[in-house]
Amino acid sequence: MASCVRQRFFGWFVFLCGFFVIVQVMLLLNQQKCNSPDEQTNLDARALNSAAGDKKNNIKRNDKKTSHRDKRRETATKFPVKSTPSDNNYLSPFHRRWEANCSAIFAGDTDVVQATYRMLKKERHSHNGSIVVPEDREVRTWTHDCDSFRSLRRYPTHPVSEEEDSYPVAYIIAVHKEAAQVERLLRAIYQPQNLYCIHPDAKSPEDFQRAIKGLADCFENVFISSKIEDVQYAGFTRLLADINCMKDLVGPRGDVYRWKYVMNLCGQDFPLKTNLEIVRQLRAYKGHNDITGVLPPSHIIGRTRYKHVIRDKQVKRTHRPKTPPPHNLRIHFGNAYYAATRRFVEYILTSPKATDLLRWSNDTFSPDEHYWATLQRAPGTPGGYPDPTWDENVRFMKWGDITKHPSCKGIYVRGLCVFGVAYLEYLATQPHLFANKFYYSFDPIAIQCIEEALLNRTRNPALSDRLPNFPVTNLLWQSHTALP
Ligand SMILES: *[C@@H]1O[C@H](CO)[C@@H](O)[C@H](O)[C@H]1NC(C)=O
Ligand SMILES: *[C@@H]1O[C@H](CO)[C@@H](O)[C@H](O)[C@H]1NC(C)=O
Ligand SMILES: *[C@@H]1O[C@H](CO)[C@@H](O)[C@H](O)[C@H]1NC(C)=O
Ligand SMILES: *[C@@H]1O[C@H](CO)[C@@H](O)[C@H](O)[C@H]1NC(C)=O
Repeated sequence: MASCVRQRFFGWFVFLCGFFVIVQVMLLLNQQKCNSPDEQTNLDARALNSAAGDKKNNIKRNDKKTSHRDKRRETATKFPVKSTPSDNNYLSPFHRRWEANCSAIFAGDTDVVQATYRMLKKERHSHNGSIVVPEDREVRTWTHDCDSFRSLRRYPTHPVSEEEDSYPVAYIIAVHKEAAQVERLLRAIYQPQNLYCIHPDAKSPEDFQRAIKGLADCFENVFISSKIEDVQYAGFTRLLADINCMKDLVGPRGDVYRWKYVMNLCGQDFPLKTNLEIVRQLRAYKGHNDITGVLPPSHIIGRTRYKHVIRDKQVKRTHRPKTPPPHNLRIHFGNAYYAATRRFVEYILTSPKATDLLRWSNDTFSPDEHYWATLQRAPGTPGGYPDPTWDENVRFMKWGDITKHPSCKGIYVRGLCVFGVAYLEYLATQPHLFANKFYYSFDPIAIQCIEEALLNRTRNPALSDRLPNFPVTNLLWQSHTALP
């Protein structure tokens, strides 16, 4: 979401500015260089082998034969063995499948990466600067027949393993545009034992709303939040979107789907791990929440010290001071994205500490960057942890001003990297469950290759055992035993 991105940007960016002014100025130049997709595709343009070509895939819209074949494939066994591994035509007829050698791309094969960049560049040139992505109106038509949609796209109908079946997870997905990418994200994280709450921004166009509604209506365990907010950039309503979904997730649906952890995502996130791997990481959290938080640096303090108002669609600071936070809570500042236990969610929705802090936060700036962080560090919070830390393993992001990761190899949007295929080699080494951000219309092959890798590991779980340093067990709070 716009706010998902910008809020994070303001939070991190402002905070890190304080510490990395010099580094930042240097990297600003780099950012300039990365600002346009076309400039970026020129990077490292030394490999001059002929481009892999620009063959358009056959996008057959009504391949009903595939549908029947697939249906027969759905065996009645509880954990069926999947079909041949190389067969990833399940993108068709909905998403274009690109001719790309993903294993070579993951292996960092420069020739293949360069050829892929050239192919995308050519495609952008012939389509006025961006990659053609299925429009919301079209995505809406995909779900007119749910049976054939689910089967053509091979949405799993049974849990893949006993291990996953016994460990359902819940998702909150805040989205505002590009239903086709939302569909790919949903497909990548979808399992029938999990529960998914989608929050489309109230401002989004009708076609988008209907496309998302169509998706949700095809699955028992995917639903639209029962209360939709007009999501305000850096505003209180972004936090409310999560709270609304949480209420739905612990309601009657939560009795049917006994999920253990919830994670919140936005439309530009994509998983780096399979459902099995995600389950293993969550189990390794041993009842802790993965929620970052530190004491707010001085330039952040004003966000919660003064009352804010919405003026010209922006959250503006006033000179009127706020009362101190309720229950003597000590405000912390952290990441708006988390993995939290079900007990934490129940506590958030019922404890006076949490509900009073929510009300108190209504006129603060970007409250989702202090709300979870503060409660996580308050005494008595289920799965909480008292000390300040940035330790987390939910989301990988590459900020322009953080130099510990390789440079973007994509484009920077508001200081945050939008990944291109050349970053996949590095992403594959990262232990995080998700990465942000991906743009379908910037590099669809990055998404396709991650899908292929996840599909391969889902079909052959032995590959998951070989992931280096995974699941992560050395985060600061993982060894904290005094769990409330
Ligand atoms: C993909 O690249 C690898 C080398 O990285 C090569 O071994 C393999 O044959 C290639 N596959 C195809 C289909 O071209
Ligand atoms: C191409 O893009 C430009 C700027 O984004 C826009 O003004 C123009 O209408 C577009 N042309 C076509 C044919 O879509
Ligand atoms: C805070 O809450 C009041 C009423 O409870 C509401 O009128 C106001 O718009 C809210 N402010 C923000 C920034 O959401
Ligand atoms: C996925 O598996 C197929 C079949 O074994 C293989 O050709 C392909 O390179 C694999 N892709 C990735 C990204 O590992």
